[in-house]
Amino acid sequence: MLEAPAVSAGPLTLVHTADDAPGWWRSAVIYQVYPRSFRDLNGDGVGDLAGITAELPQLARLDVDAVWLSPFYRSPQKDAGYDVSDYCDVDPLFGTLADFDTMMAEAARLSLRVIVDLVPNHCSDQHAAFQQALAAPAGSREREMFIFREGRGAFGEEPPNNWQSHFGGSAWTRITEPDGAPGQWYLHLFDASQPDFNWDNQAVHDEFERVLRFWLDRGVAGFRVDVAHALVKAPGLPEWGGRADGGSSDGYPGHEAPMFGQPALHDIYRAWRRILAEYGPDRILCAEANVDPLPRLADWVRPDQMHQAFNFPYLHAGLDVRRLRGVITDSLVALDAVGAPSTWVLSNHDVVRHATRFGYDGPAPRDGDGIGIFDHQPDVVAGRTRAAAASMFMLGLPGGAYLYQGEELGLPDGIDIPDSQRQDPTFARTGGERLGRDGCRVPLPWRAAELHAGFGSGQAPWLPQPEGFRELARDAQTDQPSSHLNLYRRILAMRRELDLGRGSLAWLESWCTDRSLAYLNGTTLVVMNVGRDPLELPPGLVLLRSSPAAAETHDGGHQLGSGETVWLNLPLG
Ligand code: GLC
Repeated sequence: MLEAPAVSAGPLTLVHTADDAPGWWRSAVIYQVYPRSFRDLNGDGVGDLAGITAELPQLARLDVDAVWLSPFYRSPQKDAGYDVSDYCDVDPLFGTLADFDTMMAEAARLSLRVIVDLVPNHCSDQHAAFQQALAAPAGSREREMFIFREGRGAFGEEPPNNWQSHFGGSAWTRITEPDGAPGQWYLHLFDASQPDFNWDNQAVHDEFERVLRFWLDRGVAGFRVDVAHALVKAPGLPEWGGRADGGSSDGYPGHEAPMFGQPALHDIYRAWRRILAEYGPDRILCAEANVDPLPRLADWVRPDQMHQAFNFPYLHAGLDVRRLRGVITDSLVALDAVGAPSTWVLSNHDVVRHATRFGYDGPAPRDGDGIGIFDHQPDVVAGRTRAAAASMFMLGLPGGAYLYQGEELGLPDGIDIPDSQRQDPTFARTGGERLGRDGCRVPLPWRAAELHAGFGSGQAPWLPQPEGFRELARDAQTDQPSSHLNLYRRILAMRRELDLGRGSLAWLESWCTDRSLAYLNGTTLVVMNVGRDPLELPPGLVLLRSSPAAAETHDGGHQLGSGETVWLNLPLG
C-alpha cells in the first residue's frame, strides 16, 4: 500500500510515486506533426519537409521535447501517406531525403528529437513487393509476402472470411491473375490500396529491420508504430463478427479479435528493441496499439519491448470525470507494474479535435464519423474553453504526453468541407455515411493577414480552412497574452519547471466528485471543474488557470469556474 502525504485539504489516495528512472521519453511532451497540413513552403497546397524545417523554432518555443512526424514516405496518398510504396525515400510531394536531413539538422540545433512513423502492417498496392506478388503465381514466394487466399463458394467468388475493413466494406479484395482469370483474394484491414503484410514470413521481418536501421542511421529518435497490434493474425484466420476496429462489442470482447493482439507480436518488438539498443539508450518505440482492456497495454511496454504506448482509453474518456479517474488509476498502476511510464493524449489525426468534441454536451461523433454541416453542431466557445481545461489537466499528469498540431491554437475541426474535397477513404468506402477524418486534418493557420492564413503562398490548401482559422493564426495568438497558445506555453514551461512529468499522483478525495476531479502531483494540486457551477477551491497559491481572463491576472481567487482547470501550490503537512 502506497502511503499518501498529509494535506490539510483532506484525505488523499496515492496511486503513483515519483519516477527517477533514466529515459528522456518518460516525461516528454511529444508534438505530432502531420506533414500534409503543417506548412506548405513550395506553394503546391500540401505541407512539406521544408515547411517543417522553417517552423521548427516555433515548436522549440512551445517547449516540447520532440516531434513525431506522420508519414512522408513515397506513397500514392490513398490514405494520406499511410499507404507506403517505398519506406526508405521521401515522397516528392514532401521533398527529398536531403530535405529530411536538413530538417534533422535544424531539429538538433533546437534540441528537438524527431520520431518518425513506421507503417509495418500494410504497404501501398503500388509497393514493388505487391506488384511482384500480383505478377507471380498463387503459392509463390512473392505472394507469401502478403496474405493471399482462395475465395469461398463454388467459383471462389466469396471472400475467404467475414472480416471487415476498418474503413468499411470487406477486408478482402479479389485480384485478376496475370492470365486474366479471376483469382485469389488479398487481405487489407484498411483500404483495398493497403495490402497487409504476412508477418508469418521471415522475409517481412528482415525487410522491416532494414527500414528501422535506415532511419536510425539518419538520426531519428525512434518510431511511432502504426497499428502495432495488428501485424500478426490468428492462425487459420477465423471468422470475427465483432467491430472492425477490434473494440469490444456485445458478445465479442475486443481482446479476442483474431486480427489484433496476437502473442507472436511481442517477439517482433523484442527484436526491434534490440536493434534500437544498438544505437544507444535514447531511441524509442511507441505503439499505436488500441488494446482492450487497458491493463493489457502493459504487455506492450515491458522492459524488453516498446518504450511507450498511446493511451486511447484516456482520449476516449473525454470529460467524464469518473471514467477519467478510472483510466488514470488503471494506467498508472498497470504500467508501474512493468516499470513503464504512462502517456496521455487528447487529439491526433484520426479523431475529431478535442476543442470540437468538447463543444457537445452529449456524446461527440464516433472516431471516423466526422462532422458535416447538416449534423448537430458543437458550441465552439464552450469547446475551446473546455479543451483548455482538459489540456491543462492532462499536462499536469506524471508521464509523457502527446500533442497534435494545432491543439495549442485551440483549433476546431473543419466542418464545411464539400464532399468533392473529402479525401479520407472512409468517406468513399461507406458511400458517404461516415464522413471520415478530414475535419481534423485541415492545414494550419500561421499568419492571419496572409493568403491561406499563412499555410502556403501558392495553391489553395488541400482541404479548405474554415473562416475562423484566420483569427486563430499563430501570429495573432502570439500577440494576445491571454490566447490559447500563450496558455499552452505557460503550461508547458511550468510543467518543465515543476518536473511534473516525473512526479507522483494522489487523488484529493474531497474534490473528486461527479463534477470535478483533483490530484496532487508533488506539491502541485490540479483541479478540473466540469460542472455547471463554480467550485470552492482548497487553500493554496494559484499557479495557473485555464480560463484566459484569470490566466492573465493570476489573481489567486479561490473559486474555480465551470469548465476550468487550476494548478495550485499546496502546502504539505
Ligand atoms: C493508423 C493511422 C491512420 C491510418 C491507419 C492505417 O490508425 O493513425 O491514420 O489510416 O493506421 O494505416
